Amino acid sequence: MKILIIDSGLKPGWTKKTADSISEILSSEMPWQIERITLRDEEIRPCRGCAVCLERGEQRCGNYNDSTAKILSKMEWADGIITVTPNYSLQVPWILKNLYDRMAFIFHRPRLFHKISMAVVVQGVFGGGKIIKYINELMTFWGCTCIKGAVVTGGLYPNTKLSESILEKNDKALKLAVQRFCRSVSEIRPRHPSLFRLMLFRMTRTAMKYSPDALVADKAYYSEKG
Ligand SMILES: Cc1cc2nc3c(=O)[nH]c(=O)nc-3n(C[C@H](O)[C@H](O)[C@H](O)COP(=O)(O)O)c2cc1C
Repeated sequence: MKILIIDSGLKPGWTKKTADSISEILSSEMPWQIERITLRDEEIRPCRGCAVCLERGEQRCGNYNDSTAKILSKMEWADGIITVTPNYSLQVPWILKNLYDRMAFIFHRPRLFHKISMAVVVQGVFGGGKIIKYINELMTFWGCTCIKGAVVTGGLYPNTKLSESILEKNDKALKLAVQRFCRSVSEIRPRHPSLFRLMLFRMTRTAMKYSPDALVADKAYYSEKG
């Protein structure tokens, strides 16, 4: 099975440490093929809000040749995606939000079906639960099946010393989350969307394929994919 870990930390801090631990736990569970993308090491130019990717296709974006296409192909390659992100002001940091904006055309043309997604938030004190909900909602729109993630708490400042009890609690939460993820990825069975999601998808697809107002890129995508 192929696993992609996305490290969204702005520096090699607590988020990196958590991504390292996740990688170690994964390797101890099974011989997975693990790939890691560290967003701060990639060139992801800022979304300019021109909506060309939505209207005319992502290949028409002036920034198409930066790392975004490569990251998307890694997401398409993986059976499971773990997004590890710090909590910055109750949200994901700009580097991950910018990636999501650059990939926003996937809301119109979803393509991550049959993949498991899990989010892990690294934070000081408060707010991680809502960030997990946000990432899960986005990844569900993009086609993934999302499972319960984990919030790792306590690393408020880069030089914070965590007590043994907090370290133990975080390790336990992380291990349980990764084990849940491993079980979900290993289950070889078709994953069915809810009736609501299926209806939403069918209605959107029909509109994008047949409506005279449909965007060129959407019409082409659904005409090709059916
Ligand atoms: C700009 C900024 C905003 C933050 N906002 C929050 C917050 O809203 N809630 C929280 O619990 N921690 C917050 N924190 C603390 C970080 O989530 C925490 O230090 C985390 O471990 C940082 O991960 P990193 O070392 O990979 O950057 C914030 C930190 C920074 C630098």
